[in-house]
Amino acid sequence: MALVTTKEMFKKAYEGKYAIGAFNINNMEIIQGVARGAAAKNSACILQVSRSALNYAGPKYLYGMVKAAIEETGIDIALHLDHGPDLETVKLCIENGFTSVMFDGSHFEYEENVAKTKEVVDYAHARGVVVEAELGKLAGVEDEVNVDAANATYTDPDQAVDFVKRTGVDSLAIAIGTSHGAYKFKGEAKLDFDRLEVITKKLADAGYPNFPIVLHGASSVDPAVIEMCNQYGGALKGASGIPADMLRKAAASGVCKINMDTDIRLAMTAGIRKSFSEKPEAFDPRGYLGVAREMIQALVESKIEDVLGSKDSMK
Ligand code: G3H
Ligand code: 13P
Ligand code: ZN
Repeated sequence: MALVTTKEMFKKAYEGKYAIGAFNINNMEIIQGVARGAAAKNSACILQVSRSALNYAGPKYLYGMVKAAIEETGIDIALHLDHGPDLETVKLCIENGFTSVMFDGSHFEYEENVAKTKEVVDYAHARGVVVEAELGKLAGVEDEVNVDAANATYTDPDQAVDFVKRTGVDSLAIAIGTSHGAYKFKGEAKLDFDRLEVITKKLADAGYPNFPIVLHGASSVDPAVIEMCNQYGGALKGASGIPADMLRKAAASGVCKINMDTDIRLAMTAGIRKSFSEKPEAFDPRGYLGVAREMIQALVESKIEDVLGSKDSMK
């Protein structure tokens, strides 16, 4: 049991054709729900923190609670900065014990993304911390996948190889049709698996076999959870996510890290809404936050068992 980097986790995941779940954390109940869910399945996991989560909870609280979760559960956990916007945030996280950082320069021009990512890699590697970066724009392309739109938006395989070579990153987030949030597809869900295959092949041919690929925007947005939110006063219309079978396919095809935040938010909200509705007289936060924590634990257990395939990865 330890606070670890993702290096060993990804090596085992790639070889075992499964993925490690990366769950966004913002408070104690989410940390406990995720860590207990992972421990129940004897799985390692990644707890990740966005810039707004840092602003909300503070790095010291998050680090302290993650250390407590490791002691309580006995599993390996990587503490990761999600979508780091700049070197300053990377430094803040590394100073506060994070073992992995993402620098997201995907919105910059290519050369600027390379230069800024390289700066982060040099800083982080000198301190034993691993780096994830992103190439391509995370967005669904309308229904009938338009080839020009996909080429302009999704990750270019040759550029991915050049990027890995020049920056020295440890893992790469790619764009193949996933997007953040609860409204991912207007029509049918579609991911560009051919592109994923070409990217992994070109990386292998260039001397980067088993290079860890990361999938952001990978929540499934379970219709039953949406229904539960709406049944108890929510108004979530037209929500949709990435079907579980697509995530299983990604996990078996070189994707070592699958990011989920929206599914946690939805599970938590559904639990709290139900609790408020069924017990309007109650006002002890431990009641409804406890229900939310149980919802999160159940969600993580089912992700590990049915989607990620990381069960017993702690063995
Ligand atoms: O990819 C973004 C994550 O869902 C974090 O979102 O910036 O609202 O914490 P946030
Ligand atoms: P979702 O919005 O699909 O949960 O994606 C989360 C994510 O990619 C965090 O970086
Ligand atoms: Zn993301």
